[in-house]
Amino acid sequence: MSETKIALVTGANKGIGYEIAAGLGALGWSVGVGAREQSRRDAAVARLRDAGVDAFGVPLDVTDDSSAAAAADLIAERAGRLDALVNNAGITGGGPQQPSSVDAAVIRTVVETNVIGVIRVTNAMLPLLRRSPSPRIVNMSSSVGSLARQSGPGGETSTGPVAVAYAPSKTFLNAVTLQYVRELADTNILINCACPGFVATDLNGFRGVRTPQEGAATAIRLATLPDGGPTGGFFEDAGVVPW
Ligand SMILES: NC(=O)c1ccc[n+]([C@@H]2O[C@H](COP(=O)([O-])OP(=O)(O)OC[C@H]3O[C@@H](n4cnc5c(N)ncnc54)[C@H](OP(=O)(O)O)[C@@H]3O)[C@@H](O)[C@H]2O)c1
Repeated sequence: MSETKIALVTGANKGIGYEIAAGLGALGWSVGVGAREQSRRDAAVARLRDAGVDAFGVPLDVTDDSSAAAAADLIAERAGRLDALVNNAGITGGGPQQPSSVDAAVIRTVVETNVIGVIRVTNAMLPLLRRSPSPRIVNMSSSVGSLARQSGPGGETSTGPVAVAYAPSKTFLNAVTLQYVRELADTNILINCACPGFVATDLNGFRGVRTPQEGAATAIRLATLPDGGPTGGFFEDAGVVPW
């Protein structure tokens, strides 16, 4: 089996996911570019390869069981194992998302991608992660899902606008992450949540104030943690995010 580390980044065709793939590639990793649409996936892979990254395309819609299974088959055939899974793909569901008037279908759609999508892809990849000597899972969360920050002083300004689909989907994801940490406590898989900060991407109409490269940094750090590193944590660049 190759010494080269293998990662899969979901939603890697643009935004923060693309920069996570670029950053891991710059560290010498072979990176699977998980993306659901062929032309966007091919363009990202070509751009990464032009930058010297050992990138390969992984067709992956995180809302589709058969797509996740096929992605695992592709990585198994190519590498035989997975060293880091970065569950980055996510959607906001659009807005406004006032609790009193939200369309329940929006909540279902967001949860299907941001929460169940992570469970679906993680479960498809777990057999490959178990074959790695130092497996890592990074779930791309957001401080907007932090209950402590929302209920603390300045919650309105520090955790973004009221968004009853998106923000609780990240709270849900954080809780799901801890369930994996508990189930897999007797393994060497390090599992953590990352918050990228407020990053200028399509997700927010490029209103964010950080670059995608800056947003990628914490996830890259968590994907490349040394053995014995933290697990069951929620991190941003400045340190720990309170749940
Ligand atoms: N930007 C921020 O300020 C911010 C802050 C906190 C957390 N985050 C989180 O960071 C992650 C990346 O967001 P971003 O800002 O980089 O947004 P983005 O530029 O909109 O990228 C989102 C990525 O997710 C993919 N995606 C969405 N649904 C998918 C599905 N069903 N299957 C596969 N891929 C899917 C998109 O693919 P398509 O191109 O095919 O749509 C795209 O590649 C998200 O989890 C987001 O919640 C972002």
